[in-house]
Amino acid sequence: MTPEEVRAFFDAHWTVRRFKEHRMPAEHLDVLLHAAQRAPTDATAQMYSVVRLVDPDLRREAAEATRNPHLATASEAFVVCADLRRLRVILEDAGYEFGDWPAAAVHFSVGDAVLAGQNLLLAAELLGYRGCWIGGVLSALPWLAGRLALPPGVFPYAGLAVGVPDEEPRSRPRLPRALVVHEDRYREPDALELREGVAAMAGITSRGDWASTLARYFARGGTMEAREPALRDLLARGGLLAPGGGDFEALVETANAAGFPDVVVRRRGERFEAWLDAVERAHRGEGASATEAVREAVREAVEGSLKSGRGPDA
Ligand SMILES: Cc1cc2nc3c(=O)[nH]c(=O)nc-3n(C[C@H](O)[C@H](O)[C@H](O)COP(=O)(O)O)c2cc1C
Repeated sequence: MTPEEVRAFFDAHWTVRRFKEHRMPAEHLDVLLHAAQRAPTDATAQMYSVVRLVDPDLRREAAEATRNPHLATASEAFVVCADLRRLRVILEDAGYEFGDWPAAAVHFSVGDAVLAGQNLLLAAELLGYRGCWIGGVLSALPWLAGRLALPPGVFPYAGLAVGVPDEEPRSRPRLPRALVVHEDRYREPDALELREGVAAMAGITSRGDWASTLARYFARGGTMEAREPALRDLLARGGLLAPGGGDFEALVETANAAGFPDVVVRRRGERFEAWLDAVERAHRGEGASATEAVREAVREAVEGSLKSGRGPDA
């Protein structure tokens, strides 16, 4: 391929949300899934799973729950998940103890999931299909995790719908390259350059105000804040985030919700000790700070209640 052809291919990327009714031939689906699995992956660990949505009822429900109708109408729909579960089971089966690296686990498993999903989408685009990533799955996280029977350690990154477009091609703008690509060291843009960048994105919305679109998602009271608790909860259940996020008040609330009305913290010399006490059970944590001690006790309590089949808020 020439550079011009490569540029033309990427210029022809556009997200599609309206699809023609169309059944994807088996060999096309096969090559999309092959492309997903050929993606580079950290340490060859393949910390992702792709759940193909086949059942029409499930696709309809997912479309409604996430308010993304294209999950139901595209030729094919997938939920691309970060997956630490399979890696854990492989290691434990081989006699190893899974390491304690929750932050890196989120980091690399999300990376693996994105690379696999984007490979799938690029393969689809090479075949003439178009698609849509669907972060909206995060708005229906508890429902989706239950409906897809996702075990602890597996969490959806995003949905992915692929099919034959039923809408006009639309090329959406990008920020000027100088704001995104840096040489040798990070360069903070000045206010004017940043405003020009925002202006360059104006075409993305009918009102020509990119910042207000961003605000709907990312500002105080936006969609992302609304999604946060369910994602934190799912990550905590997979041992990928300290239950309650980490600050003291949130940890106490998590302990209370897990059925422990009393949280007792004591200093023991240089260390702290925390007890979560209920009539019939107690959990102890220890750490260099009161917060760390409570975090350990809450982690124990939440994992214990999960193992015994009780939800943390049972
Ligand atoms: C991680 C991710 C999540 C997205 N979530 C949604 C979504 O929930 N619903 C939707 O209609 N589009 C979604 N999109 C599509 C973006 O809105 C789209 O890629 C962006 O506006 C740029 O447009 P383009 O892909 O046509 O260049 C998502 C894209 C990404 C990469």
